[in-house]
Amino acid sequence: MRILIVGNGGREHALLWKLRIDAPDAAFFVTRPNGGMAGLCTGVDLSPEDVDGIAAWAAGARIDLAVIGPEAPLAAGLADRMTDAGVPVFGPSAGAARIESSKAFAKDLMAGAGVPTAAYEVHSEPDAAEAFIRSMGAPVVVKASGLAAGKGAVVCDTVAGAVETARQMLGGAFGAAGTQVVVEEHMEGEELSVFCIADGEAFATMLPSQDHKRIGEGDTGPNTGGMGAYAPVGFVTEALLAEVGDRIVAPTLRALADAGHPFRGLLYAGLMITAEGPKVVEFNCRFGDPETQAVLPLLASSLLAPMLAVAEGTGLNGHTLDFRDAAVTTVLAAEGYPGSYVKGQSISIPRRKGVHVFHAGTSAVAPGSLVTSGGRVLAVTAVAAGFEAARDASRAAAEDVEFEGKQFRNDIGWRESERRHRSRRRPTR
Ligand code: AMP
Ligand code: GLY
Repeated sequence: MRILIVGNGGREHALLWKLRIDAPDAAFFVTRPNGGMAGLCTGVDLSPEDVDGIAAWAAGARIDLAVIGPEAPLAAGLADRMTDAGVPVFGPSAGAARIESSKAFAKDLMAGAGVPTAAYEVHSEPDAAEAFIRSMGAPVVVKASGLAAGKGAVVCDTVAGAVETARQMLGGAFGAAGTQVVVEEHMEGEELSVFCIADGEAFATMLPSQDHKRIGEGDTGPNTGGMGAYAPVGFVTEALLAEVGDRIVAPTLRALADAGHPFRGLLYAGLMITAEGPKVVEFNCRFGDPETQAVLPLLASSLLAPMLAVAEGTGLNGHTLDFRDAAVTTVLAAEGYPGSYVKGQSISIPRRKGVHVFHAGTSAVAPGSLVTSGGRVLAVTAVAAGFEAARDASRAAAEDVEFEGKQFRNDIGWRESERRHRSRRRPTR
């Protein structure tokens, strides 16, 4: 079997790691592998955005399964090109990927399907956006509709700030991504990331996880691509998962199929668990980063089998996912991140039992010699029987890794820690 992974971040390293366990005899190919992936695969020197080049390469290389990691190539039609070229692909068509690449499309689809989400309007004209913002009052959320690398959503505490943000977005601050803005109600609650493998109709839900988007401890400071994650999340019950499946995932998949865009790949529901129940913050059309680095090490059953069932069109029927233990992932970032950051620092990674080190912004300059080459450098995932042991091991492992200017959050999983602390203090009778 010949498997191609498109993308070279921490998420893709985790996918490569898991698929190598599931298919030990397969040949693996990765577009521009990072320093941790390089020794585990054959590199393909094509940009993920070169959709025609990659599809032609994959057809010529007789690839049996192509797994597309990032959203940009999906939005640009890489899965469609693969299908046209006869390459089995795990990842949605550009039409289905609009669930992420157009927030306006996603919101209208949810409204039509009765999926719970924040009240909203879509605007392309500043005065109309301002009138709606004034009618909503603060806090209010203003989002560029298109892909903005995780920077397109602004939670505004004042009406004046929201008006200014909407005017800037519509004035071109986000390029084409901001020609439409979504203005929406601010929701209160805890966030939850739910990944579903979907075959266009049926889906299998993975273990939910929680991301940490802010750079600073206690969830302070600017947004990042994600500074850490953990799974499982203590408040998630079977009943909550059933509600998410019945009220959110199933109707969304049905609406996409009815619109002529069946979703085949990984549907990521970014949820807010509000007092009125789970509501959608956003959908993504691919695995999340760094949640994938926490969730996949807990997957005891095959990832390859359901991916192939989706890619080959045989359907998910009968494929179940089996998760064990707990994981905490701490992201190590370069000095300056999420602003402009330093590159080229040499890295040393001591080995630890029960710890997986997934690479993101690393390059192998010579065998055994690694340097930093991106903002998020590594994700260290500790797996243990329980949350607390995983958390402590993840922090210790993050401490152990060395490179100049290393920054990481020492509080990944703080909500879970507090939850456990509270439940221990609750008197029993
Ligand atoms: P998004 O790019 O849509 O995922 O938004 C990024 C982050 O902004 C989310 O993870 C939330 O923390 C926050 N956010 C987005 N929309 C809302 C909302 N309607 N209410 C509260 N927080 C939100
Ligand atoms: N962890 C957030 C994302 O992947 O978009």
